[in-house]
Amino acid sequence: MLDDLAKSGPRHIAVIMDGNGRWARGRGLPRIAGHRAGARAAERLIRYVGEHQSASYVTLFAFSTENWRRPPEEIAFLMDLFAEYFRDKCDEMVEQGVCLRVAGQLDRLPRSVQDAARHAMEQTQAGQRIVVNIALSYGGREEILHAVKRLSRRVERGEMSAEQLTEEALAGELYTAGIPDPDLIIRTSGEMRLSNFLLWQAAYAELYFSETLWPDFGPDDLEQALDAFRRRDRRFGRQ
Ligand code: IPE
Ligand code: IPE
Ligand code: MG
Repeated sequence: MLDDLAKSGPRHIAVIMDGNGRWARGRGLPRIAGHRAGARAAERLIRYVGEHQSASYVTLFAFSTENWRRPPEEIAFLMDLFAEYFRDKCDEMVEQGVCLRVAGQLDRLPRSVQDAARHAMEQTQAGQRIVVNIALSYGGREEILHAVKRLSRRVERGEMSAEQLTEEALAGELYTAGIPDPDLIIRTSGEMRLSNFLLWQAAYAELYFSETLWPDFGPDDLEQALDAFRRRDRRFGRQ
């Protein structure tokens, strides 16, 4: 039964989109050119997954809580790119049946990004084909801490008891509330680490590492990852 589940393909694919800088360096271009190409790769992936129904949920790691340590010029460029993406791709997302979500510290982002993201989320909220979750100023540890603080306040106010703190209650306070855990996590550009991505949700995800740099990651690379996923034996601790 579990085998059938795996063969039917992942319901939720999460991607650590890494390697934009190396892609640009390899072409003698500034890092920002890599980020622009990376945004096009993200758009291509969303379209492909939607059209082929490869999954119903896609989470894309676009900016981590640790990425705030990058040079201000790179951060500023990325923030402009995110705002532009949410503004320019909104109609297309609606047409594609995308329901957009953003996971992370939304309040920490510049107003322009917050406004564009909120507008795009509102416009796409009826999207039925695919949920696209963009992890922005996202860190797994920060997310868990944020959830614990929210639950603690409820306990303090007497709305719930410590005994009522369950895995479900905690998952319900994460930025990904309502989204099933990822079945497949892909990281591009050869790095084999999670870099603080979906620490809670990744408990039973299958991990797939691709050597391809993110801007070059296309449908063929995705199909390879899906093939590998289908060959995995997901036991979830059982025999
Ligand atoms: C991923 O590409 C994009 C972000 C983290 C924003 P990088 O910018 O990390 O590219 P590399 O890893 O330096 O090649
Ligand atoms: C992870 O990539 C974050 C994103 C893809 C947004 P990084 O490039 O920031 O990760 P490290 O620093 O190599 O671990
Ligand atoms: Mg990187």
